[in-house]
Amino acid sequence: MNHEDLLALLGKMTLKEKVGQLVQLDGGCFGAGDMSTGPREKLGVTQEDVDVCGSVLNVLGAEEVRRIQDTYLERSRLKIPLVFMADVIYGYQTCYPIPLGLGATWDPDLIRDDYRLIAGEAVADGCMVTFSPPVDVVRDARWGRCLEMPGEDPYLSSRFATAMVEGFHGDGAPERSIACCVKHFAGYGAPEAGREYNTVDMSEWRFRNEYLAPYKAAVDAGCELVMTSFNTVEGIPATANKWLMDDVLRGEWGFDGPVITDYAAVAELIGHGVAANAREATRLAMNATVDIDMKTPCYAHELEGLVADGEVSMEQVDAACLRVLELKNKLGLFENPYRTCSPERRVEVTCSPERLASARKTCGEALVLLKNEGDVLPLDAGEDGPRVALIGPYANSRDIIGMWAIHADKSRSVTLADAFEEVLGPERFGWAKGCETLDDYSELGDFGKYVGITSGVDDGPSADELETEALALAAAADVVVMALGEHMLQSGEGGARTDITLPAPQKRLLARVRELGKPVVLVLFNGRPLALTDVLDDCDAVLEAWFPGTAGGRAVADVLFGDVNPSGRLTVSFPHNVGQEPLYYAQFSTGRPAKGSAHSGRFVSRYMDAPNEALFPFGYGLSYHTARYENLCVGTGSLRAGEKLRVSVDVTNESQVAGIEVVQLYIHDVAASRVRPMLELRDFARVELAASETRTVEFEIGEDQLRFWTPEHAWASEPGSFEVFVGPNSRDLLAGSFELI
Ligand code: BGC
Repeated sequence: MNHEDLLALLGKMTLKEKVGQLVQLDGGCFGAGDMSTGPREKLGVTQEDVDVCGSVLNVLGAEEVRRIQDTYLERSRLKIPLVFMADVIYGYQTCYPIPLGLGATWDPDLIRDDYRLIAGEAVADGCMVTFSPPVDVVRDARWGRCLEMPGEDPYLSSRFATAMVEGFHGDGAPERSIACCVKHFAGYGAPEAGREYNTVDMSEWRFRNEYLAPYKAAVDAGCELVMTSFNTVEGIPATANKWLMDDVLRGEWGFDGPVITDYAAVAELIGHGVAANAREATRLAMNATVDIDMKTPCYAHELEGLVADGEVSMEQVDAACLRVLELKNKLGLFENPYRTCSPERRVEVTCSPERLASARKTCGEALVLLKNEGDVLPLDAGEDGPRVALIGPYANSRDIIGMWAIHADKSRSVTLADAFEEVLGPERFGWAKGCETLDDYSELGDFGKYVGITSGVDDGPSADELETEALALAAAADVVVMALGEHMLQSGEGGARTDITLPAPQKRLLARVRELGKPVVLVLFNGRPLALTDVLDDCDAVLEAWFPGTAGGRAVADVLFGDVNPSGRLTVSFPHNVGQEPLYYAQFSTGRPAKGSAHSGRFVSRYMDAPNEALFPFGYGLSYHTARYENLCVGTGSLRAGEKLRVSVDVTNESQVAGIEVVQLYIHDVAASRVRPMLELRDFARVELAASETRTVEFEIGEDQLRFWTPEHAWASEPGSFEVFVGPNSRDLLAGSFELI
């Protein structure tokens, strides 16, 4: 359809039909026959509302999508197809590592390719729009949704945001692309004390400097929708925040697509206490140019009355409705209301060999080696290699896809035990669960029981039996690999924790195994940075596996047995203890820094009982090779706007193993009109090094990379001295300097 046809269609629509396009309902309301009555009544919408509704939430399955679309179109006066939107965050059926792991690859090009494959798999089964990428900057490990994000750094997250959007779009062919929706706009990653849905409040300059960039990157890359976040921004919930949605997003950034709320967020304006009732909530959201009301009856029931009373104009409704129609048109739904979804295509692409291979490769890059004392890793898989005991709740668990892979079939995941057996054969390897994941599963609540992934402690062997079996296995082995971690439901939405250490029964088991005196390798499964201080001494090596996804077992084995030399680097700081949170590398200078202050001893900015720094800092990760960084050169030492300053460093592989270095460049604005972080990532390069090879790695710094949100409310750089740092992580850095003139 061309634009005129769309306008003509809009002209034919009744107000109720226009409002319908602004309403999103879930699959329950579209159930066959009488099946929809209960869900409709529960939500408080009528069959009439469903008959004009514009989009469907989280229904996937080629047959079901076709059935719903057919039934809907049969009843529809103007035959405007539904658009199906769903959460496909880091994989559909082929699950990649959780985004914290994707971030750890520091490889946006690879992730772009992965997201192309994700799009192809999802579209075949009916997904037209995905609520992804989530790119909230995460700086507090207590927050459960750290899992979903690429990390704590705005620059790095922006690079991933761009790559993910480009990947979802692929080459634009309907069978290989889906539309996407960046979220959660904005600042959702900064809830006070890490508590889910809690208040977010920060100054505008900080919001702009540190939180907005990744969303903007997604918008600039052409993402079609933006989702409002649950939190407040300057005391006004994002869903009612006209400044954020209309002035910043649409006005400053030029975004002209639909804005959709997060789940039930219009009705939650009442809970926030900014609206007295559904009518007021609807008015506030509409006036903030929020177009689609996800999963509440507010727009469906209140908008017509607001238009009749002149509190919302017909032009506003038309503009919102047109944005939705334009999206449907862009997706080609008026020509083909199913896009390319079909059961046959699904069979072709679901978990195809190409996808499984890419998930395994990416996972290999996502794993982060945190400790490797005495080079206990890699393990020798050859015939003369060690006998391996694999112990822990994750030894043979398929719950390794993470909490947000909601559409995936976890039975497809390859467990560690599956993979170890492939590598070692049954003679040199055995596994045991060893203990329960948690002492008490009740903190997981009903949700755990509902999704069927909590295991009851009552129906299996007793704790003593589990431990005895595991210790006997460990005693007979040469090396013990412990597969431990958070329960899959302890992270993700609603997964805030104040204790971010390993669950108690697993720590007890690890300590008992340690007493046997064998080399111990810890493989961690978790959806957030953990505080590992109390378990580090109990292991010789630690491999951070996140929730590694469908190919997880194989990828972990690839690294443990040396087929892959780990190159993953953290994109979130791992604290010594939870009291350091929120913890991030880009700390500000203070008047009394811990190091270099004129004040001594007590009266500087520090903790009495813990270091200021992370236990494992941003950018950190080990490999099986070691590298030397030297000869940092900072071009001419001065930079003018419009010019580039060349920065170079020599990186040498000091070992006989080929490997990848993630060379990181940070800057520090020494004196500015606002305090600036002591370090800010500005560029990085993944560099492959053959054994003993030296490479000169070059970067260019431009004036635009030195800008920040100034007291004059503008993006600008300020002349003066800058420090520049290059190294393998945010702690071990070579330093240089230059002047911006
Ligand atoms: C989450 C969103 C998600 C939406 C729809 C909400 O609870 O916050 O990230 O896209 O549900 O499933």
